[in-house]
Order: sequence, then structure tokens, then C-alpha cells
Amino acid sequence: MSTATPASRYATTVLERCDALAAFSDDPGRLTRRFATSAWRAAGEAIEGWMRDAGMATRRDAIGNVIGRLEGAGAGTFVLGSHLDTVVDAGRYDGPLGVLVAIACAQRLRDEDREPPFAIEVVAFADEEGVRYGTAYLGSATLAGTLDQALLARTDANGISMADAIDAIGGDPGAVAAARRDPADLLGYCEVHIEQGPVLEDEDVPVGVVTAIAGQTRARVTFAGSPGHAGTVPMAMRHDALPAAAEWILAVEDTARSSDGLVATVGDARIDPGAANVIPGQVILALDVRHADDDARAAAAAQLRQRADAIARARDLRSAWAPMQDNPAVECSPALADALADAVSAAGHRVVRLPSGAGHDAVAMSAIAPVAMLFVRCAGGISHHPAEAVAPDDVAAAIDVLTGYLAATVSSDGTT
Ligand code: HGY
Ligand code: MN
Ligand code: MN
Repeated sequence: MSTATPASRYATTVLERCDALAAFSDDPGRLTRRFATSAWRAAGEAIEGWMRDAGMATRRDAIGNVIGRLEGAGAGTFVLGSHLDTVVDAGRYDGPLGVLVAIACAQRLRDEDREPPFAIEVVAFADEEGVRYGTAYLGSATLAGTLDQALLARTDANGISMADAIDAIGGDPGAVAAARRDPADLLGYCEVHIEQGPVLEDEDVPVGVVTAIAGQTRARVTFAGSPGHAGTVPMAMRHDALPAAAEWILAVEDTARSSDGLVATVGDARIDPGAANVIPGQVILALDVRHADDDARAAAAAQLRQRADAIARARDLRSAWAPMQDNPAVECSPALADALADAVSAAGHRVVRLPSGAGHDAVAMSAIAPVAMLFVRCAGGISHHPAEAVAPDDVAAAIDVLTGYLAATVSSDGTT
């Protein structure tokens, strides 16, 4: 075995590659990488090249997941990865950091002539954020065989169907249903991801072991009234959709503020026709509701749906509720989490365990494998924002932990 290479060297490469990927954006002057755009495709090509440099055999599946594989000494496959798409005006670490740390660990094992005890597959998932088509986990749900095929007909803001978008990037929409990864040989899935919260900074530790991932409900809520001339329609005769939407948005905030453990967000609003001198005839809102407890989340979503109907009725408007996504909370595998905690200790760090309020591809992957997640401290807990930042030493810590985790013979029940 050649001498151990300091993790800091791999961390420098990971951060340089995060910078390189940040150049692949749909928008000038900010980082936005939606599913199946040319920027998304270029980012996938860069990642595939780095997988090959690390000695992996690579392929792209029908929806565009980029998959690298390194054979191991024994039976079974351990999957690592995260996503290559981003939100709008994103930070450069949410997603890519997990993919690149995984590639760095495969590279390090190879550099040190350490054959992993099992095969390792690294996946750069095609779309986790769901920005273009409103539903998250398109790539990981495809690999898990749980993707609702009806989504292929969903159109984006420009009227392009998901199937056509997949076709345009060289994917095969007709083969998405068959792209399910056979779980028979899967030992587990581990995702490295920035924490996107303040806990690790408060605890002053570089990494943390995730215990569970909160459930998530997304819906598209529409208020419809009558458009009209802003100067001539008397106030008492209006059916203005925007004040109704505003009243409901405040109700969303009040409901979440008064419910323990509940977060609810209206992150997008589309006003039609959208002109200063026209009374809004329709407003379409994007709702995101989360809670660690599924019953609490479902009850909150039902309450908000009833409230939207009540506000619309009181204003003689119409309302509509279109479910976009519903993911239950996911428990990380206690055995894999314990093995990850052992690797954190072995790397010389105090073990902190914490839940994830953010969703991750591990949610979808939990359908076909036991899952674990390693969080990396991020500055101020900031994420989904260009100020997202990680420290090189913390990335090196994650590489040390993950390499140690892989080098141990971890079976599916997490025993070593
Ligand atoms: O929205 C989320 O929780 C994740 O960043 N996709
Ligand atoms: Mn993410
Ligand atoms: Mn995200």
C-alpha cells in the first residue's frame, strides 16, 4: 500500500472542482443549474471526466444520472452521491460537494492501492431540487424505481415536457421506468452534504451524522378571480386574486409559527397577467411544508388547503390545490449511522447526531437501500444562496471520515 495521502490535498481538489462546476449555469451572473439544460449537461460531462480520472467506469442512465463504478474485493455495492442540479441563484456546494467528496474518496483508495471491500458506485443525480418541473428527486427516484411516470408529461414554464427535455439531452424517456437499480447487491447508500443549518457551527465540529430526514409536501395553490382595468373597476366590484393570495400567505406563516417543528414556505408566486395597471386575475403559488412527523405535516397541509378555499369563498374567488409532491420522513439506518459515527470518532472528531430539515436524494434511495448521511459544517448555516461556504479543513475531515467508512468492511447490517 502506498503512503497515505493527506485528505487536505483531496479537499483542495474538491473545492477547485466546486468552483469549476459553478461556471456551468443557466443564468448569467448567478448559479442556476436546472435539470436537463445545456449547463446541466456540461456539468455532468465534467463530473464524468473526474470519475474516469479516479479509475471509475462511467455511464449515464435514461434520465441523465451520471454513474461511476469502482470494483471491489468482495460482493455487494455501496452507493455514494448527491445531486448536480441547483436551485435558482444557488450556492456552489449544495449537491456538488457530496458528489465530489465521493469521487475524491474513490481516487484516494486507488492512489493508496486500497481495494474497497465491495464495489463503490458514485451517482451524480440528475435533479434533486425540482426547480424545472416542481417535483424533487427525479434522478434518485428513477434509480429507486419509484418515479411517477406520469411526470414525464409534465411541462415546464416554457411548455417543454419532461420527456422532451430528457430526449433533448440524449436521455431516453421511454427507458426511465426500466432504469431502476436492482437492489439485490446494494449494501447501502451514504450521502455527504452541507448541513444547510447552524448546528455543527454551534457545536464547533466539522461533520455530523444524520439521524432522520424531514418529510416534505409541495403543492401548487391557485387563486382565480377576474382581471380588470386598475383605473376603472370600483374596489367593491373587484375579484382581485392577489390580496386573497396575500391573506393566505400570511395564514401559512401564522400556521407554521404556531406549530412546533413545522416549517412552511411560499417560495414562488406567479401573477397573471402581471402588469401595474391590470387587476390580477390569477395568482399561482408554490407551497413547501415540512415536519419530522408525517401526521403533523399532513394535518398542516390539510389545514392550509381548507384555509385557501375559505379565503377564496369569502372573496367570491375560485381556488385550486394541485399536489406536486409528498415525501414521508425517512429514518437513516441506525446500523449505517453507527458505523459512520465510528468513522467520525476514528478520524478524531466528536460525534454529533442531528436530523435534517432539508430533503436529500437519500429520501428516494431509502426505497432500495439502507441510507446514511454525513453533514459538513457550512458558514452561518447559509444555503440556497451564493454566500454558501465550507472550510477546506472541514471538507478534508469529511474525506477522512468517508474513506475510513468505506475502508472498513461495512455489510448491509452495518457490522464490521
Ligand atoms: O429543498 C430541499 O430541502 C433540498 O435542498 N432539495
Ligand atoms: Mn441538496
Ligand atoms: Mn438544496
